[in-house]
Amino acid sequence: MPAYAVIGGQWGDEGKGKVVDYLAERVDGVVRYAGGNNAGHTVVNDKGEFHLHLVPSGICWPEVYGIIGNGVVVDPEALLGELRELGDRGIDTERLCISERAHVTMPYHVLLDALDEESRGELAIGTTGRGIGPTYIDKTARMGIRVGDLLDPDSLKPRLEQTLDYKNKVITAIYGGEALSLDDVLAKALAWGEELRPYVRPTEQIVQDLLAQDRKILLEGAQGTLLDLDHGSYPYVTSSSPSIGGACTGLGLNPQAIAGVLGVYKAYSTRVGGGPMPTELFDDTGDKLREKGHEYGVTTGRTRRVGWFDAPAGRYSQQVNGFTGMVLTRLDILDGFASVKICVGYRAGGEEIARFPADTRLLEKCEPVYEEMPGWKEPTARATDLAQLPENARAYVRRIEELVGCPVQIISTGPGREETILVDTVIP
Ligand code: IMP
Repeated sequence: MPAYAVIGGQWGDEGKGKVVDYLAERVDGVVRYAGGNNAGHTVVNDKGEFHLHLVPSGICWPEVYGIIGNGVVVDPEALLGELRELGDRGIDTERLCISERAHVTMPYHVLLDALDEESRGELAIGTTGRGIGPTYIDKTARMGIRVGDLLDPDSLKPRLEQTLDYKNKVITAIYGGEALSLDDVLAKALAWGEELRPYVRPTEQIVQDLLAQDRKILLEGAQGTLLDLDHGSYPYVTSSSPSIGGACTGLGLNPQAIAGVLGVYKAYSTRVGGGPMPTELFDDTGDKLREKGHEYGVTTGRTRRVGWFDAPAGRYSQQVNGFTGMVLTRLDILDGFASVKICVGYRAGGEEIARFPADTRLLEKCEPVYEEMPGWKEPTARATDLAQLPENARAYVRRIEELVGCPVQIISTGPGREETILVDTVIP
């Protein structure tokens, strides 16, 4: 009963959408287990270019189930918009299933995300502003609204009444904001429920049944391990568990069902939002990487921070997730650089720091120790076979493999499905 996970090894935006779309042909279901529409997954295939935020990236394959598990937080407005757009572009969305246990991002969550961030001032997290943190706060506080609640007006009304009364007190008394109207929010929520009803199914059972029939599923991670609420650079993290543990709790999946864990890494580093990033570049090289890689967020359009590959951070992610294989994306963006650097360790206050530290203040002080390797002039862009890569590019890949401690199984050499080198079988 094999499940295969595709998980971000850095700070998100590693190109997981493309990898999932590429691998989805070999599976029966693609399952999102954490995060919400803070994610932005780009998929480019024969049907066009798609920017997905909540719909699993396997949606373009007609036979594949797209499942939104209980660990995801769902903004119905965003999801319904995405479904309409996919429908308009000829993509069949009938095989989408949403967990009745998934929590709903309500209008007050989006408002509170903005108010929270504003009140943090200089210490702002730099969230995507999609209400993700406040939705998970309510889940933990046991005052969340779940997708199943939207289908049941009798239970929704009293729950919403109580919650909104509390939220409005916070919005007005603490932040000086404007209260939301119960009637408006309730009407919206009930309308969402009616539109979502055909998609709401017991996803844990669907996942378990697929696996019991020996059918394969792909667990689609969102964000990245270094943004994990527990394992990332807290507090500059998201509010869910993008790493492998989140897949078990976010789906009701037992760990024995997981046959492979694929870590997706960009050939350099990027990050959006606040928080430490030891290899961040502020010079012309950084600008060149950003422009060449068009490093602007899919969800918010924000400029991404860019830097060289950070191997201690990559190795740490490998250890947290137990990656059985690695995908290296965007290798083509490094084409034409005279030399390329890899951070192999850190130095802080005169001391060497070999591991990615848990102490965020220490991480902020970490200076990268670089190893410099010769670049390559010949293009890797669009290569489909390892033999097509220039020797220096192959040496770069081998060095990353060594430092992260995990074999490279796929190399992505462009955004399209075909612009891929399959080094080793991932899903038999
Ligand atoms: P939130 O998830 O919107 O609360 O944002 C928390 C942090 O995670 C911020 O630094 C965001 O920029 C970052 N973040 C959230 N989702 C993504 C993503 O899909 N890619 C990259 N960064 C993300």
